[in-house]
Amino acid sequence: MRIRYLGHSAVEIQGSKTVYIDPFLSGNPAAAVKPEDIRSADLVLVTHDHEDHLGDAAPIAKQTGATLVATHEIAVRLEQEAGIKAEGMNMGGTLSFGKAKVHMVHALHTAYSTHPVGFVLELDGKTIYHLGDTALFGDMRLYAEFWRFDLAFVPIGDRYTMGPVSAAKAVEFLRPKKVVPIHYNTFPLIEQDPKRFAELVGRTAETAILAPGESLEL
Ligand code: NI
Ligand code: MN
Repeated sequence: MRIRYLGHSAVEIQGSKTVYIDPFLSGNPAAAVKPEDIRSADLVLVTHDHEDHLGDAAPIAKQTGATLVATHEIAVRLEQEAGIKAEGMNMGGTLSFGKAKVHMVHALHTAYSTHPVGFVLELDGKTIYHLGDTALFGDMRLYAEFWRFDLAFVPIGDRYTMGPVSAAKAVEFLRPKKVVPIHYNTFPLIEQDPKRFAELVGRTAETAILAPGESLEL
């Protein structure tokens, strides 16, 4: 499975299905691709409706025919306004798309409408957790009892999400094999040194610092 970091919180997961999470690309100074370059996708997951997450999710779903997955309220609105295929769900729930499973989990953050969330994706025998925008919360320890995470995308930018210190604590709680820091250095307000985060994580997990456009094999 190939994982490509597209900048900010946007990621591309290519396995037996192609999945995009929080594809904020137009207007994203760190974006590695343009939304119109995305020609095929199966799922587009949206953690919340802030511009830097909802981003180009609807146009990408429209041009690829992918199913957009979000909280019920966002899914209903986008289905009506953007004429796309959307599946609404809520925290605690699981949706299956063939062999892919999407679990919607808690995030501690705000949004214009409805509650922000994170996603746990099970695909091709791998379990990937995208935390979305969140503060540290203790139930991350509980999630480590339910899932063995092969990879976690963890926001480290501070100000709007966890900073490096609380993000490293999140890694301690979640015990993923690999961690990719996200949601930093897109704008001056969220400037961070990802190497400092990697130092704080230490041997708890393998930290993969990806520049926008870079990939890793999982
Ligand atoms: Ni946000
Ligand atoms: Mn954000």
